[in-house]
Amino acid sequence: MNRLATKLGKINFNNPITVASGTFGLECANFYNINKLGAIVTKTITPEEKIGNPTPRIYETECGLLNSIGLQNPGIDEFLKYHVKEYKNFSAPLLVSFSASTIDEFAEMLIKLEKIDYIKGYEVNVSCPNVENEGLAFGIDAKIVYELTKRLSKLTEKELIIKLSPNVTDIVSIAKAAEEGGASSVALINTLLGMAIDWKTGKSMIKRGVAGYSGTAVKPVALQMVYKVYQALSIPILAMGGIQNYKDCLEFIYAGASMLSIGTAQFCDPCLPIKIINDLHNHFTQNNINISDIKGKVWGID
Ligand SMILES: Cc1cc2nc3c(=O)[nH]c(=O)nc-3n(C[C@H](O)[C@H](O)[C@H](O)COP(=O)(O)O)c2cc1C
Repeated sequence: MNRLATKLGKINFNNPITVASGTFGLECANFYNINKLGAIVTKTITPEEKIGNPTPRIYETECGLLNSIGLQNPGIDEFLKYHVKEYKNFSAPLLVSFSASTIDEFAEMLIKLEKIDYIKGYEVNVSCPNVENEGLAFGIDAKIVYELTKRLSKLTEKELIIKLSPNVTDIVSIAKAAEEGGASSVALINTLLGMAIDWKTGKSMIKRGVAGYSGTAVKPVALQMVYKVYQALSIPILAMGGIQNYKDCLEFIYAGASMLSIGTAQFCDPCLPIKIINDLHNHFTQNNINISDIKGKVWGID
């Protein structure tokens, strides 16, 4: 019996641990057997190549990380021509993260990605600017998330994960829009917004000023969002935000997560996802439980 077995909407996974988009690369295969991951999630791919934002674009704070990488990636055509093949020989299910500036562009990308049979699903990054809506992020508008998801869900039978931005007033309404649009699962959270300034000189630590904030500090924020979304939705949740060890994973499972992404914490220890898989396995075995025994079963709340 595999106690770690889990499922998102359409895929069964050997274990619930995957890697957060943009925080993992195939070079990790030099450190551990990446087939042991529950799934592999790529860095977000966009319609055209992006060279990323000017440096400095990463800064470590007391308890988290600021990044302003700017979705640096080779663009979909280059990705499909060269990079995607590198994932072909790995048995861990491949989930491709992608993003665009209009709904049509998202759809065009999905049509291209559908041609690759070993891509098992998609993580749709809706934190990027929508040029048809004054450059505001797709993910802040429930109606747009619904329209985007509806369009994409008609184009694929594969796992369709909508990755939500936490920079909204009501994450539940956005998550519901994704569910109603036909998403098979939702992922949360992407980075919060943050900033750091050198107190001696007043200089911004990040060239672009405002950056995405991730790591330890964001865990309580992510946890309450996962909890609220689980209460309101029927589709499964891929949770992330500040996970550092198997105990953090258990908190997210109690809040309602079916699967978990390890992100920023890998920068301290690239082998952390494997350690967490082993620790979770030991915990479940010692307590004679599996994920479904505890999923969403947080208690002590009035
Ligand atoms: C350096 C860096 C790059 C990231 N790039 C992406 C990206 O390309 N696409 C995406 O959806 N999220 C990206 N993220 C967000 C992570 O996937 C994740 O949602 C977020 O960092 C929260 O998890 P964590 O606190 O465990 O890192 C990035 C995060 C970091 C730190």
